[in-house]
Amino acid sequence: VESGNSTFSHLCVLQQLTGTLTLAVFSAVLGSLQYGYSLGVINAPQKVIEQHYGRGRCVVKGMLMVNVLAVIAGLLMVLAKMWKPHVMVIAGRCVMGFYCGLSSGLVPMYIGEIAPMAYRGSLGTLHQLAIVTGILLSQVLGLEFLLGNDYYWPLLLGLSGAPAVLQSLLLPLCPESPRYLYIKRGMVEEAKNSLRRLKGEYDPSADLEEMRREKEEVEKEAQVSIAVLVRSSLYRQQLFVALMMHLSQQLSGINAIFYYSTAIFEKAGVTQPVYATIGVGVLNTVFTMVSVALVDRAGRRTLTLIGLGGMCICAVAMTVGLVYLRVYSWMSYVSMSAIFLFVCFFEIGPGPIPWFIVAELFSQGPRPAAIALAGCTNWTSNFIIGMTFPYIEALCGSYVFILFAVLLFGFTVFTYLRVPETKGKTFEEIAAVFKKGRKQTPGTRKTGTGTGTGTGTSTELEQLK
Ligand code: GLC
Repeated sequence: VESGNSTFSHLCVLQQLTGTLTLAVFSAVLGSLQYGYSLGVINAPQKVIEQHYGRGRCVVKGMLMVNVLAVIAGLLMVLAKMWKPHVMVIAGRCVMGFYCGLSSGLVPMYIGEIAPMAYRGSLGTLHQLAIVTGILLSQVLGLEFLLGNDYYWPLLLGLSGAPAVLQSLLLPLCPESPRYLYIKRGMVEEAKNSLRRLKGEYDPSADLEEMRREKEEVEKEAQVSIAVLVRSSLYRQQLFVALMMHLSQQLSGINAIFYYSTAIFEKAGVTQPVYATIGVGVLNTVFTMVSVALVDRAGRRTLTLIGLGGMCICAVAMTVGLVYLRVYSWMSYVSMSAIFLFVCFFEIGPGPIPWFIVAELFSQGPRPAAIALAGCTNWTSNFIIGMTFPYIEALCGSYVFILFAVLLFGFTVFTYLRVPETKGKTFEEIAAVFKKGRKQTPGTRKTGTGTGTGTGTSTELEQLK
């Protein structure tokens, strides 16, 4: 009987993956594809382009609007040869930078809000899957015999605007987030319709009831701007966890690999570094798929711990490989395998999870401000690593990855001690975890979620582990 019940509930959950939900998630992650493509595209044809330099919240509507930026950026780059190429490319990349910043917040927020709870992790990870697919696509198209040559490089760069065109056609067919409609706009009927479109014909009363309770909570809170969020002690724990997770993603050193892999492989003694870079892109994509399959079963906390811990060991192995390369030539295999494994561990957890967990950690009120802050932390640390890595490397030589190993060790310990599991919990239950983890201050309400019996001073985070 038990196994019959579980098959039945599995089927019920499967039924929630409707065509509209699939279309909505697919359309949304086109934004992530673009982001990944833009991220990877500058790596391979760098030298060719440099030669030319020498010569011269309404979520769905929000996503639709920012596409204007991507199209302008794409056009500036495609037409780069018509005027001063370096000015055109820098302008195009700047505009694309604005686009990437905005869409890296909007896409996970939209998916987090429309995904059924049982699939929130897998669907959230599709954002990262689209990013890595974009990176891989740009790496392959960037090969010299394809578009990474003197003639086609403007097309290679300009193509980064292409997914925006497709997304603009598809998004009008996608429903607005029901949580946004109900909680922010108070549009109950519209929220109901949106839920039915996303989940198929079903009784939405349980979902509506959950949203009603969250709306009630949100209404008791003042409007949560970024400034309020930073100052408020109410959200301090969530914010700390969210920002640390984004810092751990970037300060792991992943983009030292992505931006400089070709040079690193050369140093590690690889004869065809461009193909090794594509190898990284393929593994990157495959292991993100593994994460899509695992994240709603194994949980966010476990996968982040395995990922960060594994990356830490790989960073040590990479260093050993690089340091002893001059003594033993076979050490090049050690560093190469360590780089590949480093990327695999990253995609298991630390890559995809920070992107969607912020939407899980915050309720509707502070969610947009939290996502904006987390995105800003992510991109700032990405920028710092991208800009400083060559200098740090010049300073530390073969020992450069020891620095990341130390940071990774610290982040692993932090995750073990402070990151709660959010798998299988409603937004309200997750908020309650942090509420109970906080020392209850006068005026702090208790919520009747029925998810535990915390006294208000005990850390439920401990229990959740
Ligand atoms: C994540 C990171 C991004 C990195 C990418 C690699 O999306 O945010 O900076 O380049 O993973 O797969």
